[in-house]
Amino acid sequence: MKVTGILLAAGQGTRMKSNLPKVLHPIAGRPMIWHALQAIRAATTERPVAVVGHSAQQVTDTLGDSARTVVQEPQLGTAHAVMQVESVLNGKTDLVVVCYSDMPLLRGETLLKLVETQKSNPGPFSLLTVTADDPRGFGRILRQKDGTVKAIVEEYVATPGELQVRELNVGAYCFRADWLWNALGRISKNPRKGEYYLTDAVELAVKEGLPVQAVEVDDIEETIGINTRAHLAEVEATMRRRINHRHMLNGVTLIDPASAYIDVEVRIGRDTVILPNTYLHGSTEVGEGNQIGPNTIIRDSRIGDRCKVLASVMEGARLEDDVDMGPFARLRKGAHLGNHVHMGNFGEVKDSHLAEGVKMGHFSYIGNARIGANTNIGAGTITCNYDGDQKHDTEIGEEVFIGSDTMLVAPVRIGSRSRTGAAAVVTKNVPQDTLVVGMPARAIKKLERKSKKEGRGERP
Ligand code: UD1
Ligand code: CA
Repeated sequence: MKVTGILLAAGQGTRMKSNLPKVLHPIAGRPMIWHALQAIRAATTERPVAVVGHSAQQVTDTLGDSARTVVQEPQLGTAHAVMQVESVLNGKTDLVVVCYSDMPLLRGETLLKLVETQKSNPGPFSLLTVTADDPRGFGRILRQKDGTVKAIVEEYVATPGELQVRELNVGAYCFRADWLWNALGRISKNPRKGEYYLTDAVELAVKEGLPVQAVEVDDIEETIGINTRAHLAEVEATMRRRINHRHMLNGVTLIDPASAYIDVEVRIGRDTVILPNTYLHGSTEVGEGNQIGPNTIIRDSRIGDRCKVLASVMEGARLEDDVDMGPFARLRKGAHLGNHVHMGNFGEVKDSHLAEGVKMGHFSYIGNARIGANTNIGAGTITCNYDGDQKHDTEIGEEVFIGSDTMLVAPVRIGSRSRTGAAAVVTKNVPQDTLVVGMPARAIKKLERKSKKEGRGERP
């Protein structure tokens, strides 16, 4: 059976008082509409269709391939919005799930329950309801004696008696497609607001003597719709609790879940400990047994196993295993630290590979560089990678000792096992096993060739 989702996202979201369309406001690092799409995907079999209107191009660009889009112009109500999709879906689907796109906490399982209910409903559609003390301006659900839905009454037309009803219309429906397209044409314009209301479909079914089923959502939180920034913050907090809970159940320790800010798609391995005030953003992947934070911000980065990242910032960077980083280290895009690298305070690395065992203990800038295994970067070392016009590369071999305050004027290469004196300004390539000093640095000595593995200085 073909089931297709329709997301209604044409409204402006005036009460957000924002230049950004409402459905693009981020929650746990992803736009509101992305969350709605995830839920819809879990419950449908075909590529979803989004109805866009306000800031249509921006919303369409954000959706990319994840949904087809149909433009509703002007926006004449929820039924009118669904009508725009008829030409795309008529004859191509058995069931249609219609969902408003400002409810990012709604779960896929809940929509799936709605679809399952409709599959066994002899009537034309089913809808989600919730019972809540605070009616939030939602439409009220009136039931028949047999438990099926009699009507949805919008708040502004409800009688005092109807206003007392606490069962509310969530804004998610599953329709038999053939019935829906026909019914939409029969919904008349609401005289008060001049809009076509999808909720009026209930009345049509009831007139035909066909049952409309209600599926009650148990978890009220799922049905929080966003109309204002206050709702946005409420949903963000709930989403964060939900995400953090999932990680804890998967074996991640969160010392203080209230101060762990983890985006929805972040992955974390077991026995990793997240300390307070830590932000894991975007597509970040963290392996097992790491200790991250406190006071750490990581975006779109990959971390292996058993690393320690203390009070540091990473973006678009990668750590292999057993890396020890911080406090106050900064990795920018393209920084890649190999196994057992130690990076201490006030270092910055960008577009560079530090091979296994490299040590960079104190304030240094490494950009556009490749550094061989077990090399030591002395305090204050700078790769002068920018000549004011272009970026240039620095290549440093294995087991090199870069003295404190060395300036490596790129492009430049330092051979394996070489050393630079303190404050050397290296402007020319240095061969292997060579000591250079001064400004500009000159070779003063060929070094005896010995490897750290054999133990430096142990031979006579
Ligand atoms: C709607 C329901 C109400 C329900 C509430 C739950 C109707 C008539 N009422 O009211 O019963 O309790 O949601 O949140 O459906 N949209 C379009 N095109 C339009 C109009 C709206 O795409 O022409 C989209 C909006 O972007 C939004 C959704 O439909 O995502 C709901 O519209 P909105 O105006 O927010 O409806 P409510 O008044 O909240
Ligand atoms: Ca709404």
